[in-house]
Amino acid sequence: MTFLSSSPRRRFGPDELRVAQNLAERVTVAIENAQLYRTLQEQDRRKDEFLATLAHELRNPLAPVRNGVQILRLSGVGEAAGRTLNMMDRQLGHLTHLVDDLMDVARVSSGKVVLRNDRVSLKAVVDAAVETSRQAVEAAGHEFVLRVAAEPLLLSADHTRLVQVLANLLNNAAKYTPQGGRIVLSAQRDGGDAVVTVSDTGVGIPADMLPKVFELFAQVGTSIERSQGGLGIGLTLVKRLVEMHGGTVRAESPGPGRGSTFTVRLPLAAAPADAPALLRAPGGGAANRLDILVVDDNRDAAESMALLLEMRGHRVKAAHDGPEALKLLATYRPQLILLDLGLPGMSGYEVARRIRESAALRGVTLAALTGWGQEEDRRRTKEAGFDHHLTKPADPAELERIVTGVQAGGR
Ligand SMILES: Nc1ncnc2c1ncn2[C@@H]1O[C@H](COP(=O)(O)OP(=O)(O)O)[C@@H](O)[C@H]1O
Ligand SMILES: [Mg+2]
Repeated sequence: MTFLSSSPRRRFGPDELRVAQNLAERVTVAIENAQLYRTLQEQDRRKDEFLATLAHELRNPLAPVRNGVQILRLSGVGEAAGRTLNMMDRQLGHLTHLVDDLMDVARVSSGKVVLRNDRVSLKAVVDAAVETSRQAVEAAGHEFVLRVAAEPLLLSADHTRLVQVLANLLNNAAKYTPQGGRIVLSAQRDGGDAVVTVSDTGVGIPADMLPKVFELFAQVGTSIERSQGGLGIGLTLVKRLVEMHGGTVRAESPGPGRGSTFTVRLPLAAAPADAPALLRAPGGGAANRLDILVVDDNRDAAESMALLLEMRGHRVKAAHDGPEALKLLATYRPQLILLDLGLPGMSGYEVARRIRESAALRGVTLAALTGWGQEEDRRRTKEAGFDHHLTKPADPAELERIVTGVQAGGR
């Protein structure tokens, strides 16, 4: 550091020099801290990006495999093969879940998840979460007790995200409790808050780990002694989603072997309830076949999807890039187009825009089929003219709903 003074002739005494030296050291430390902070931030951003890319790349191969399992099932197989298929389907579901969590945690960390702000009933959230975790709880032979307040409790919230929060806590309770334990979920009002607790009689959490379990990748015990799988991201996601809702979550445990309790506190919505939204009646079982175009550059994904739809009685064509699809569509008039977004050369968005510009293709239902499934991606596909947004691997039930909608004459 250069020592400057207004009078160049002046000589500095040892005290002054010491002060200057001291100041210089402090400034150096401050600058180094700032640099370190920036490096860490940059690393953090790169980690988030890496996680998002990893999740996306893992999803792509999952799609044809999931289709394949459905195809084999529909073709009718023997008893042993049937049991194997069920096992594969369960494991695939598990893998899909892990990949979804991975994707979510990366996107939540980088602020890319935008919450819906709907009027949501806490009871509906609890019911959906219980349904989601039912299999895990029952498979472990746990007793399950549900205590939900009789009065309606309403939140301004994102239903799907809150279900994800509670389902994560229930799954953990089921997972970290030895066979035949007891899980209690209670949802009550406490002043202006809704308070949900999930308690179990399981392995508990040592006191020094309690503040850490919400950290990314934090798990109690080493991987060798752990018999349970998992990536250690569920609770990170829980905490971030709850905080995005203006709430808090905390963990308590009297110690190893003595169970755990997780408490989520969320602000209640201020105003009274709106009238419940009208549910559109399902389109009365018209079993007519559809003409469907599947566009995906991953040939396995395209072919397996086409085969799956054909087995359901539809007529299907496949294309593997945008120009090929558009060329086909010059003469071909499907009612439904399943369009991958990440196509080489011309993106799915661009293909969608061109389809929407074509008068001959007016009224065709467009569904995006993609590895990207966040709110922002959904908004983008909507803007590009898509009617639906399916994330890979497409959930067979969701696909069926779209098909039924088109059969019923809707989009
Ligand atoms: N109900 C529970 N009882 C005991 N330990 C728990 C419970 N829930 C979470 N934990 C501990 O917290 C860690 C982090 O949980 P989570 O983020 O959901 O990751 P994962 O379940 O994938 O390991 C778990 O690995 C486990 O050690
Ligand atoms: Mg977990």
